[in-house]
Amino acid sequence: PRLAVIVVAAGSGTRLKGGAPKAFVGLDERSILHHALRGVFAAASAQVVVVVPRGFEGEALTDARDAAGERADLVTIVTGGETRQASVAAGLAALWADVEIVLVHDAARALTPPAVFDRVVGAIDAGAAAVIPAVPVVDTIKRIDAEGRVIAAVDRSELAAAQTPQGFRRDVLEAALCDAEADHTDDAAAVASAGHPVVTVEGDAVAFKITTASDLDRARALVSERPS
Ligand code: CTP
Ligand code: MG
Repeated sequence: PRLAVIVVAAGSGTRLKGGAPKAFVGLDERSILHHALRGVFAAASAQVVVVVPRGFEGEALTDARDAAGERADLVTIVTGGETRQASVAAGLAALWADVEIVLVHDAARALTPPAVFDRVVGAIDAGAAAVIPAVPVVDTIKRIDAEGRVIAAVDRSELAAAQTPQGFRRDVLEAALCDAEADHTDDAAAVASAGHPVVTVEGDAVAFKITTASDLDRARALVSERPS
């Protein structure tokens, strides 16, 4: 396929403390990873590269095959790295030759609606080299110093919270990560520091990242309310 989705799921989940690497914590009888992959397969026909912690490749393959149904042959499982950026690089190394567009998606954003994927792919198809879903920042944000004193208010209208899937032309993402010196918390930051414009599309509140125990409670409640 022309499109690939790299689902990064190799983090340990230190803030969640879920008793297992975060992607393997349950939302119902299914894991966070399973729900994330269901969303990916609902949204796109693509090579799906799942990046997981060492030792979890077999469990991930079971989850992925189950979520993929008839499209199980589109799944590739790879072992991740120490940082998110290293995990993305491991995913890139597993892309098939014909892939031209790459989406990088956090497994931890397990409930991301298909419409967000559609908007990201749509922006790439319309000519963007890099695109991120973004949502407005709701809190009032302050710039502070090392002692916690407020230095300045930050104009909220200039801010947006970045989500995933983030979409890229494959050549642009590969070159940016290859040249990246700093460790970036998202891929768009590496691409932007390589000098490429990054555009935004509308994200979705439901695409929140499961990070803490209260996020997990919220995700579990949303899943239990879903029509099955
Ligand atoms: N991730 C990854 N490889 C890493 C670190 C993170 O694939 N070495 C993935 C996570 O699995 C997650 C996404 O990147 O889907 C976003 O990272 P984050 O929410 O920070 O997850 P963790 O790093 O697992 O959580 P924490 O920072 O609380 O340990
Ligand atoms: Mg992390």
